[in-house]
Amino acid sequence: MSKRIFIFDTTLRDGEQSPGISLNIQEKLQIAKQLAKLKVDVIEAGFPVASKGDFEGVKAIAQQVDGPVIAGLARAVKQDIDRAWEALQYSARPRIHTFIATSDIHLKYKLKMTRDQVLETVIEMVKYARNLCPEVEFSAEDASRTDREFLYRVFEEAIKAGANVINVPDTVGYATPEEFGRLIRSIMENVTNIDKAVVSVHCHNDLGLAVANSLAAMENGAQQLECTINGLGERAGNAALEEIVMAINTRKDWYKYSTGIETRQLYRTSTMVSSLTGVSVQPNKAIVGSNAFAHESGIHQHGVLSNSSTYEIMTPESIGLKQSQMVLGKHSGRHAFEERLKELGFTLTKEEINEAFVKFKDLADKKKVVLDQDIEALVSEKMTKIPEMYELLYFHISSGNQMVSTATIRLKRDEEIIEEASVGDGPVDATFKAIERGVGMDITLVDYNLKAVTSGKDALGEVVVKIKNNGEVFLGKGLSMDILEASAKAYVNAINKMIYAKGLEHQ
Ligand code: KIV
Ligand code: ZN
Repeated sequence: MSKRIFIFDTTLRDGEQSPGISLNIQEKLQIAKQLAKLKVDVIEAGFPVASKGDFEGVKAIAQQVDGPVIAGLARAVKQDIDRAWEALQYSARPRIHTFIATSDIHLKYKLKMTRDQVLETVIEMVKYARNLCPEVEFSAEDASRTDREFLYRVFEEAIKAGANVINVPDTVGYATPEEFGRLIRSIMENVTNIDKAVVSVHCHNDLGLAVANSLAAMENGAQQLECTINGLGERAGNAALEEIVMAINTRKDWYKYSTGIETRQLYRTSTMVSSLTGVSVQPNKAIVGSNAFAHESGIHQHGVLSNSSTYEIMTPESIGLKQSQMVLGKHSGRHAFEERLKELGFTLTKEEINEAFVKFKDLADKKKVVLDQDIEALVSEKMTKIPEMYELLYFHISSGNQMVSTATIRLKRDEEIIEEASVGDGPVDATFKAIERGVGMDITLVDYNLKAVTSGKDALGEVVVKIKNNGEVFLGKGLSMDILEASAKAYVNAINKMIYAKGLEHQ
């Protein structure tokens, strides 16, 4: 019998802490619902005390997402724990995840506390959290650089105080697999009441060892692995969920463990997270990269065609990457389109399917063959609905290498039509400046990214922009066969998201 490993997903907390990522409530909910479909055991939904947006996100997920345990992060202070509970109380399976640093470096330079003071805080705060919530996880931040004897004491006292899960983070990604495995073994052997708690690990990827460290920990007694989709997270990120899960699945002969993950949802989850965060997946990324199942060399192609096991250790289907048998084009009907949406893992309402079908027909008129990536891009563009204060009605741009670029735009705000024009350093700059004038806001563009959704001259262009306002970043997307239209749409979309987030739409 294989031992069951619990998968704790922290994409919405540690992943969302990555620079430049900021998701609104609708987007967080969409990801959380997909994580529930993926059947993760725990969703860490956010850090409620960190901001109003974080609090509302955790609350909405606690209210609307069933299945997994819903966790919220809190420092080991009452105010954080109260706020976490305020958001989590609606869940059928809430968990407060409280933490404090335990390494001497953190005690001296960050907390300015003695070991005794930290120990007292752990006992007091774990008890406090347990009085509110039936499940409490305690993390010893920077555990891998903490004095061993002190770490054993901290965990022993946390368990006595009521922690159901104790977590061993390699916060700075410093550990190596054998060393980290031994650390977990030593915790199993030296913390006298360890049988009363689940042991968890949380590995960062600064040395590219997060997945290897997590697997080594599992082989030495850890039963919960904390990870993120696409390995998102602070700095170099966290252990990648898809890599951990597929390593356990593919190497059943070696790892005598299992997870409850529905692996055929991995690809869909990865593309959703990438699309909503704006963080693209590197092509050669294990499991979900666009080249992960592509065979370029003739020898490999020949081998795979004779028998896929020659060069494929897992099938694309096992992660939900279907090889489409049917090509969609302008003669395809609604039924075929709906079937393809289902195959791609989208669960849409009738109204959303209708809307997507209109866009599909529109694209199929311009493009001979509509590929899965086109459909994914079309549908994802409108999946998270937010009230859109501004709509782009029209644009006209003139540009060339011997002239000053100018742009005219027309926007609709309620019943009002706004027209503006501007010059700029190139057509995109001119367009963005005209839009800024139209909405009457000073906006800082921090990132602009253009990619072709598929190959070929008739490919859809997808533009992702990030704008900044008061230190907060907002992401906007635009899709079109015309890259200037895609740029303008992306800019307007980012502005609408910013207005939505700031609650300005009622002013
Ligand atoms: O990396 C870390 O130590 C953390 C803790 C809060 C678990 O994210
Ligand atoms: Zn972390």
